[in-house]
Amino acid sequence: MMRVGVLTGGGDCPGLNAVIRAIVRKGIEVHGWEVYGFRDGWRGPLTGQGTWLSCDDVEGILTRGGTILGSSRTNPYSDDGGAEAIKRVLSDEGIDALIAIGGEDTLGVARRLNDDGVKVVGVPKTIDNDLGATDYTFGFDTAVHIATEAIDRLHTTAESHHRALVVEVMGRHAGWIALHSGLAGGASVILVPERPFSVDKVVGWVERRFEREYAPIIVVAEGALPEGGAEVLQSGEKDAFGHVRLGGVGMWLADEISSRTGREARAVVLGHTQRGGTPTAYDRVLATRFGLHAVDAVADGDFGVMVALQGTDIVRAKLTEATEELKTVPLDRYAEAEVFFG
Ligand code: F6P
Repeated sequence: MMRVGVLTGGGDCPGLNAVIRAIVRKGIEVHGWEVYGFRDGWRGPLTGQGTWLSCDDVEGILTRGGTILGSSRTNPYSDDGGAEAIKRVLSDEGIDALIAIGGEDTLGVARRLNDDGVKVVGVPKTIDNDLGATDYTFGFDTAVHIATEAIDRLHTTAESHHRALVVEVMGRHAGWIALHSGLAGGASVILVPERPFSVDKVVGWVERRFEREYAPIIVVAEGALPEGGAEVLQSGEKDAFGHVRLGGVGMWLADEISSRTGREARAVVLGHTQRGGTPTAYDRVLATRFGLHAVDAVADGDFGVMVALQGTDIVRAKLTEATEELKTVPLDRYAEAEVFFG
C-alpha cells in the first residue's frame, strides 16, 4: 500500500480543491492508498505539519475556492538542509511520493527535490497561465471571467461619466489575463509586460475613443511597463523566491492620461478578487482531470513529471521542461488585439 503526500504552494487559485478531491478520491477508492495533506505549501513537508485525508474530508470542496490545505511561498532551498529535512519528514510518516500542486516556484522546488531523490509528480497551477509545457493552467479561466465581468461593469459607469477607466489586472511577467479579459471585454487598449508601451500611443488611442463618443477602457497587466521605464512596485521587498510586489501601474497611467488629455481618468485594481471564489466549470473539469492523471503518474512510478494539457489531452511533461521557461504572450498574439485599440 502506498502513502502519498499532497501540497498546494504559491499564490492560491480557484480549482486547487478540485485537484485535492480528485487525488484523494482516486488514490483511496481506486488504489487503496493513504493520502497525507501537507499544510501550507513546502512549509508542510519541511516541518511535518499536515493530516491524513479521508474521502469525507474532501466532500463538498469541488466548488470551493482557495485550498483546504493552505498555501505559502516557502522555499525549502533558501536555507541549507531543507531537502534533508523534507526527506526526514517523509520517512518518519512513511510517505513514498509527493504530488505538488503549484506554479513556477513550487514546481521548481519539486524538480530540484526530484533530482535530490524525492519522488515527486507536479500539477500546474496559476491564474497567470504562464507555465511552460501546458496549454492552460486551471484558475486562469476563472480569473479571466472575473476580470471580464469587471470590465463589462466599468464600461457602463465610464460611459455615464465620460471618463477613461484603467483596469489593472494580475500578471507579473505574462499578460495572458490582460489579453484575454481585454479582448473579451472589448477594451480600447490592452497593455502587457511582454511589450513595453508608449504613453503617447496610449494617449492617442484614448483621445480617438473619446472623439467617437465612447469612454475608453484600458486594461493593464500589473507587470506592464512604459518604454524606457521600469515596473511600478508596491514594495521592493522580496519573497523567498526573489519576487518583488508589483502594483500601481494603473494609477500611474490614469494620472498620465488625465494630465495629458485633460479628461477625467480613474484606476481600478482588481487584485486578489481574481484569485478568489468558486472556479468556473472549465477550471473544475481541468483541475479534476489533472488530479486524476497525477494519481496515474504516481501509480505508474513516473516521477519528475508534471501533468499538462495539450489540446484536449492530459499528457506528462518533464518538470525540467515545464519550469525552464515562462510561457509569455507571443508578440504576434498580442498584435491580433491591436486592431481594436483606439
Ligand atoms: O502568481 C500569481 C499571482 O497572482 C500574480 O499574478 C501576482 O503577481 C502574485 O501572484 C501576487 O501574489 P501575492 O499572493 O503575494 O499577493
